[in-house]
Parts: sequence; structure tokens; C-alpha cells
Amino acid sequence: MSESNGTARVALVTGAARGIGRGIALRLAADGLDVAVNDLESMQGELDSVAEDIRDKGRRSVAIAADVSKPEEVEEMVGRVVGELGKLDVMVANAGIAQIKPLLDVTPEEFDRLMAVNLRGLFLCYQAAARQMIRQGSGGKIIGAASIAGHKGFSLLGHYSASKFGVRGLTQAAAQEWAEHGITVNAYCPGIVDTAMWELIDARIGEIQGLQKGEAMKQFSELITLGRVEQPEDVAAFVSYLASKDSDYMTGQSVMIDGGIIFS
Ligand SMILES: NC(=O)c1ccc[n+]([C@@H]2O[C@H](COP(=O)([O-])OP(=O)(O)OC[C@H]3O[C@@H](n4cnc5c(N)ncnc54)[C@H](O)[C@@H]3O)[C@@H](O)[C@H]2O)c1
Repeated sequence: MSESNGTARVALVTGAARGIGRGIALRLAADGLDVAVNDLESMQGELDSVAEDIRDKGRRSVAIAADVSKPEEVEEMVGRVVGELGKLDVMVANAGIAQIKPLLDVTPEEFDRLMAVNLRGLFLCYQAAARQMIRQGSGGKIIGAASIAGHKGFSLLGHYSASKFGVRGLTQAAAQEWAEHGITVNAYCPGIVDTAMWELIDARIGEIQGLQKGEAMKQFSELITLGRVEQPEDVAAFVSYLASKDSDYMTGQSVMIDGGIIFS
């Protein structure tokens, strides 16, 4: 969906150095938005190259290293987007981590770390974006990363599933609180996407269940109605819609984009 004439809208995508976040950032740039990209400091090289790819598409970009689980870093990140690109119209809270472990073995520290990134990090990004959009007074689009695991709890992904159920709850509440400001809040729920996160899931399930590399992914893939593993571009195409005017009448939803795994 390309932008109409006038000043380009500005998006920020977190966890955008690779995988789904990178795919979303490049898609929004192709749609005609200026796109700030964020990831951890350890991913600076990859992040800079995504920003470069965005500039190659003729859009403005800024690469911002920040840990989304830290409130002061999130606040500074949004401040930099506004300082360098002028405003914030679309926030994509995409950063997330996974851990594969039987619930009986998950430590309180591991539980807290996963929640800190997937749920508190998303909350901090939603909140900082909403504050900025309310100041601007022209509405906005807030979009979060949920998952099929936010609609059905998966074994060995217990705390991850809980974090994604949390994303749905937060998205519903935020949509109701911020509607009066012209802000819509929705989440996307990918299925089995071919990214580094799934390489990790495949390897860990393989270890636990004694499977060869690729076998867990293959078993899970048999659940996909459309018969192929999802690519970041499949998710990005849906986020493009959520970021566009065409989704103005949708809010509070966490929508499956999974090739037909979960039917709700
Ligand atoms: N891959 C899948 O099958 C799948 C399915 C459903 C949902 N998701 C969700 O989509 C999102 C993206 O997943 P992906 O597969 O691209 O994962 P990925 O691991 O390939 O990429 C995630 C990116 O987030 C960054 N990140 C991690 N912690 C961060 C933090 N604290 N602050 C900033 N950045 C941080 C990582 O460095 C990485 O670059 C995640 O929220 C994930 O839970 C993925």
C-alpha cells in the first residue's frame, strides 16, 4: 500500500535487525514510510545494514540500539525517532525471545527474563508510542507481536505462550483506552516462520525429544493448511495492512497470519 502525497509517515520497528522485524521494516519502507529500526546493541552491524537497505529504497531511516525491556532506553529510543525523523505515526513492537523448556525446569529468573522482553517490553513500547502520539494529536497505529502461541498454549513453550496471551490482553485494553485519541492497537499472530527463532526452537525440541536437525520444524509444519513454512514477508504483508488507513476500523484484535494452523 503506497502512501499518498505529503509528508511521509514515520514508523519504528523493534527487533528489526533480522527475521520478521527486518521483513516488516523493509515492507513499510517499500510502502513509502520513513522507518526507524531498533535492536540490541549486540546486533548493531545487522541493524545498520537494515537501515542502509531502507535508505536504498529512498526512505529515511535511523538505527537505534536499545533494550526494549528497559524503560529509560525505550523512552530515549522514541525521543530519538522524533528528534531525527520528526514524529512517530506507527509503532511495531516486534522484539521478542523464545525459550524451549519443560515448565518443571523453567527457573523464576528465566520466566522473568522472557516476560521482561515479550510482555513488559511490548507494554513499554506501546506506552511510549501512545504518549508521543497523544502529544502529536493526529492519532496513530500501534501494532504488537503476538503468536499462534497467544491463542493456544504449546508444550515446551509454556512461559512463551503465557507472554503472548498477555500481549492479547494488553492489546485489547490499550485499544479501548486510546481509541479517543484516534489510535488503533492490534497484534499479529504468526505461525511457524523461517527465522533464527525457529532454528532455536527446532534445535531445542530436537535435543529434548531426540530428533535430528529440521525434524521438529518438519513435524510442526505438517500442521500448516497452506502446506509451506511462513516467511517474514508473509507477516510483513499483514502488518503493512495494520499500519495503513485500510485498517482504520479494526482495533483491539490479535489476528492469525499463520497459513491456517489455528482456527478461531
Ligand atoms: N519465528 C516465528 O515462528 C514466530 C512465530 C510467532 C511469533 N513470533 C514473534 O515475532 C517476533 C519476531 O520473531 P523472529 O522470529 O523474527 O525472531 P528473531 O529471533 O529472528 O528476531 C528477534 C529480534 O529481536 C531482537 N531482540 C531480542 N530481545 C530484544 C530486546 N530486549 N530489545 C530489542 N530487541 C531485542 C533480537 O536481537 C532479534 O534481532 C517475536 O516477538 C516472536 O515472538 C515469531
